[in-house]
Amino acid sequence: MRKIIIPPIKSQGIKTKLVPWIYAVISEHNGRWIEPFMGTGVVAFNMDFDDVLLSDTNPHLINFYNALKEKAITPLIVKNYLETEGEKLQKANDDGYEHYKYIRDRFNEKFDPLDFLFLSRAGFNGMIRFNSKGKWNIPFCKKPERFSKSYITKIVNQVTKVSQVLNEHWTFVNKDFREMIPLAGENDIVYCDPPYYGRYVDYYNGWTDNDEHDLYELLNNTRARFILSTWHHNDFRDNEMVKRYWNNFNIVTKDHFYFSGGKIENRNSIVEALVYNFESNTSKHNYEPIIQEEQLSLFESSMPYCAETAINK
Ligand SMILES: C[S@@+](CC[C@H](N)C(=O)[O-])C[C@H]1O[C@@H](n2cnc3c(N)ncnc32)[C@H](O)[C@@H]1O
Repeated sequence: MRKIIIPPIKSQGIKTKLVPWIYAVISEHNGRWIEPFMGTGVVAFNMDFDDVLLSDTNPHLINFYNALKEKAITPLIVKNYLETEGEKLQKANDDGYEHYKYIRDRFNEKFDPLDFLFLSRAGFNGMIRFNSKGKWNIPFCKKPERFSKSYITKIVNQVTKVSQVLNEHWTFVNKDFREMIPLAGENDIVYCDPPYYGRYVDYYNGWTDNDEHDLYELLNNTRARFILSTWHHNDFRDNEMVKRYWNNFNIVTKDHFYFSGGKIENRNSIVEALVYNFESNTSKHNYEPIIQEEQLSLFESSMPYCAETAINK
């Protein structure tokens, strides 16, 4: 058993809760792990592959992890940086907003990966969003004391854990999925987590019919094993793309509950799906629900949830 490695960069589409499930679907951990929509990297960091090729069209994610791999960013550099900038944030006018805006403007000009980390951890709700000109577009979380000693330690530990996984067999590139999937050979596994069709959109997260069609063509023709993350249905509708493209493959589903307002009657659910083209022992619908992290403390004692912290090895 070991703990899930949590990445230092956060995003709204992060698949931390799905890691044990994805791990369970893969029976063999050999060959190369290829992930054309790496996002925060949380899935790759936990899959126990030695040879890893990761890509994303968001260059800031790629720059951050390349800097970590090349040791241009180390845990000590992150600690010193966050202590310095955290202190300035605490003392800045407008309850810290002035310094947040200073870092935001500096990032939008120079794209420094450390400033990217700062923004991703001091922005509202841990979201990553870029406007139509590709500039950082998330407001401040309004906590001037954001970078407390314990919060910095938490982030530095996350940086340490991820840097321990990275080595010369890990490659990060800033490319579109159409260039990546054809690189996969028959011993490889391609995990795809594209922006969900019909859902959240920003500069790096648009997703059209045409994109889904291209993804289908590439995955349908690949010699590699693939796993696709998508949503299956929610309380109101089905994901039409599942019917159009993915129903001919194996599909497993899991309920994902999230709460608006903390009351049980405000529970919403979306059924997550993994689509894959190989044999696996995973049962068709795994009813263990996944519950949003911020809601766990409210419901932990009364409801079962997907084990977040452990992977059976
Ligand atoms: C749902 S997120 C992936 C989340 C990731 N699995 C995680 O757990 O953090 C989708 C990612 O796809 C990237 N993306 C969007 N369009 C893309 C494209 N055409 N090719 C490659 N990456 C793309 C986005 O920048 C975003 O990081």
